[in-house]
Amino acid sequence: MKTLTRVAEMQVAASGARALGKRLGFVPTMGALHEGHLSLVRRAKQDTDLTVVSIFVNPAQFGPSEDYLNYPRDLERDSGLLRGEGVDFLFAPPVEEIYPSDFQTCVAVERLSTPLEGQFRPGYFRGVATVVLKLFNIVQPHLAYFGQKDAQQCRVIQQLVRDLKLPVEIVICPIVREPDGLAMSSRNTYLSTEERQTALVLYKSLGRARELIQAGERRPAEIVREMRQLIEQEPRARIDYVALVDAATLEPLECVDGTVLIALAVWIGRARLLDNLLIEERDGRFTFQF
Ligand code: PAJ
Repeated sequence: MKTLTRVAEMQVAASGARALGKRLGFVPTMGALHEGHLSLVRRAKQDTDLTVVSIFVNPAQFGPSEDYLNYPRDLERDSGLLRGEGVDFLFAPPVEEIYPSDFQTCVAVERLSTPLEGQFRPGYFRGVATVVLKLFNIVQPHLAYFGQKDAQQCRVIQQLVRDLKLPVEIVICPIVREPDGLAMSSRNTYLSTEERQTALVLYKSLGRARELIQAGERRPAEIVREMRQLIEQEPRARIDYVALVDAATLEPLECVDGTVLIALAVWIGRARLLDNLLIEERDGRFTFQF
């Protein structure tokens, strides 16, 4: 595995590989890698000839009161994990390489960035879309891999690619969970032992939503009410949102049918955790992906 820190070096390596006819698979990350990230890497390895992983804690997607400075960073450990997976290139640029002092261009995916996370983290998806577009221009991948764990991010990136006609295919991979159901996240390291137990309530509340739908409940407000009630029983949990939306537009739904996303963001101590459940309805039959 080669580690590159300069944009120009990465662009030369990517152009060279493309000129040789190689298919490039790209996994953008912010590091503090876990099995969720590695599942994307393994999928990229399977699908393509050359795998590039980026590690860049993107300051543009953190608000002023958020955890940019404290975000877990361990390049040595991460790079060992990626080497073990047989990754070809690790791109780990310093901040000035991505945001030189005269940097002034941003891209925003307007409507999809507004609900859910957008209500609590203004500017967040502008930061994500801008850095991902920039990384795509540097790495020039044929395929890029994202986790369903960040469902709204997936929709924003798919729309970015569609709107700007970017020559990259987006592959969405399923959520990887701990054996007890907690979705893996770099921010899980913020949880104390007690908080780690409390954090299970996100997964449990999605399980409750599934039960309700299987029992015939079709009213979004009722499903959200029961989920909130379950979470509110935990004194350590504080809800940012619990929402049932159209999985394509992320707009609120009147009734559970078609492809539905149930998404939630909940604070447990100083960790803000996300989870979601994707529900597809075809001919009255539901499949649940979480
Ligand atoms: P990060 O949080 O490091 O996540 C990198 C990728 O790993 C994302 O596509 C995310 O959805 C995926 N991922 C995280 N946890 C996962 C899990 N438990 N199961 C499956 N996939 C999981 O998302 C970002 O970084 C940034 O916003 C980024 C896209 C790199 C732009 O800065």
